[in-house]
Amino acid sequence: MKKILLITGTIILIFSFGSCYYDKAELLYPNINSCDTVTSITYTKVIVPIFQQNCYSCHGGNSPSGVIAMGTYANDKVLATNGKLMGSINHTAGFSAMPQGAAKLSDCNIAKIRKWVQAGSPNN
Ligand code: HEC
Repeated sequence: MKKILLITGTIILIFSFGSCYYDKAELLYPNINSCDTVTSITYTKVIVPIFQQNCYSCHGGNSPSGVIAMGTYANDKVLATNGKLMGSINHTAGFSAMPQGAAKLSDCNIAKIRKWVQAGSPNN
C-alpha cells in the first residue's frame, strides 16, 4: 500500500513539473509578446529611442528639416498634440509621410507612439 502511494506520488510530481514547463506560452509561442504595448510606455525609455533612430537626424539640432523641430520634450509634445506626429507616421492623407525617404515605422513602434499620445504624451 505504501509503495503504491509512493509511486502515485512520484508520477504526480513528475507530471506537475512537466506541466510547469510546457504551459509557458512564451516558450511555446516566442512571438506572442513581441510587441509589448502593455508595459508602461514612457517618453524617455520607449519614445525617445524610436525618434532618435528615425527622426532626430533630420528634425533635431538648430536647423531642423521643414522647420519642424524635435529632440526636446517640449518640441515633441507640440507635434503629439497638434496631430502632425500621428498623421505623418501613419501616412495619413494631408500630412507629409514620415520618416521621409525611408520605410514606414513598424506597426509595433507606431502602436507604442499612439499609446503615448493617447495617454496625453506625458513627460515620463
Ligand atoms: C530624411 C529627413 C527626415 C526624416 C528622417 C524625418 N523627417 Fe519629418 N520632415 C522632413 C522634411 C524635409 C519635412 C518638411 C517637408 C515635408 O513636409 O515634406 C518634414 C516634415 C515633417 C512633419 C510635418 C508634416 C506635415 O504634414 O506638416 C512632421 C510632423 C515630421 N516631419 C515628423 C517626422 C517624424 C515623426 C519623423 C520620424 C518618424 C521624421 N519626421 C523623420 C524630413 C525628415
